[in-house]
Amino acid sequence: PRRMSRKILVLPGDGIGPEITREAVKVLEACQERGLDVTVDEALVGGAAYDAHGEPLPETTLAKAKASDAILLGAVGGPKWDKIEDLAKRPEKGLLGLRKHLGLFGNLRPAILYPQLAEASSLKPEVVSGLDIMIVRELTGGIYFGQPRGIEERNGQRVGFNTYIYSEAEIERIGRVAFEMARKRNKKLCSVDKANVLEVTILWREIMERLAPEYPDVELSHMYVDNAAMQLVRAPKQFDVIVTGNMFGDILSDAAAMLTGSIGMLPSASLNESGQGMYEPCHGSAPDIAGQNLANPLATILSVAMMLRYSLDEPELAERIEGAVGKVLDDGLRTADIAYPGTRRVSTSEMGDAVLAAFRHV
Ligand code: NAI
Ligand code: MG
Repeated sequence: PRRMSRKILVLPGDGIGPEITREAVKVLEACQERGLDVTVDEALVGGAAYDAHGEPLPETTLAKAKASDAILLGAVGGPKWDKIEDLAKRPEKGLLGLRKHLGLFGNLRPAILYPQLAEASSLKPEVVSGLDIMIVRELTGGIYFGQPRGIEERNGQRVGFNTYIYSEAEIERIGRVAFEMARKRNKKLCSVDKANVLEVTILWREIMERLAPEYPDVELSHMYVDNAAMQLVRAPKQFDVIVTGNMFGDILSDAAAMLTGSIGMLPSASLNESGQGMYEPCHGSAPDIAGQNLANPLATILSVAMMLRYSLDEPELAERIEGAVGKVLDDGLRTADIAYPGTRRVSTSEMGDAVLAAFRHV
């Protein structure tokens, strides 16, 4: 029987979301020209969905998301919706709802410094040039979700509390994602914890050690999170893959992203146990430049490359997209966020078109 074509759902979202996903979809269509057998559908999420249906994650969107093999998301949120009093209706809840309902526990956040953009980093070129690290962050557990939590009165004063909890199974499944990732890359995995202070991470370290013999080709090391923050700034190229929990990963991945100095360049993936994934740029909806054809679409285009690699098993097409992005950077094309004197300023759509042309010719 003929294999069913795979389903991709595009969720443009808010702010610059529609502009950047439009460019990414052009590249996806170029992949279809090259034989990629997918159907592409679109739905509302975030503020756009709230405006149309009163919900940031309507049932129809969730149903389409569940039925898809991969999701491409722009970004959600913006000042227009900051006044919504019911927190459950805020645009961000659309994103959190998708992560939760789809069980997207494995967040992959590369920090890559393109050699053409070395000047964008705040660090010295010799410290960051050629940087290519991958942070694997657990996304559906840890202190962000642990119960009990709250603010309550105890002995005449209010206390705030959260629960930091990970089960063996949760640690093991994110550990496996990270070991597999290291295996495909430079075979070095650094597990980041706070095992000198927090019991949860003593267990975390133990489980990583237990997995290690199954991946004898991968060299496992451990680092305390405070030192990891220091090392990321001091000598980031010592890392290949970093694996850590939800909160440490949130902080370290933003720090690592900024080493590259270019928020408009960084894609991300969030995967579940069946390989289904949601792909999105690391940045937000950039309301300050929305609707002006100024945004950098490359993070979203590179998110399509991650989708092809991690959910659709099409590594050649992924490389072709990454090659096309390298080509337009080589040619000196720059959106405002990555421009500097001597380069050619282009709009969102011009950048998308240039990648498309390069994709067809590389
Ligand atoms: P942001 O990432 O949207 O913007 C930060 C700065 O970077 C702005 O100056 C913006 O113009 C610039 N920027 C971001 N992406 C760019 C791109 N592709 N090209 C050129 N410049 C770009 O973060 P901010 O301002 O903190 O948040 C704005 C809104 O986005 C908020 O409502 C926030 O909640 C939401 N947000 C959504 C996320 C998501 O959907 N995953 C993630 C982060 C924020
Ligand atoms: Mg963050």
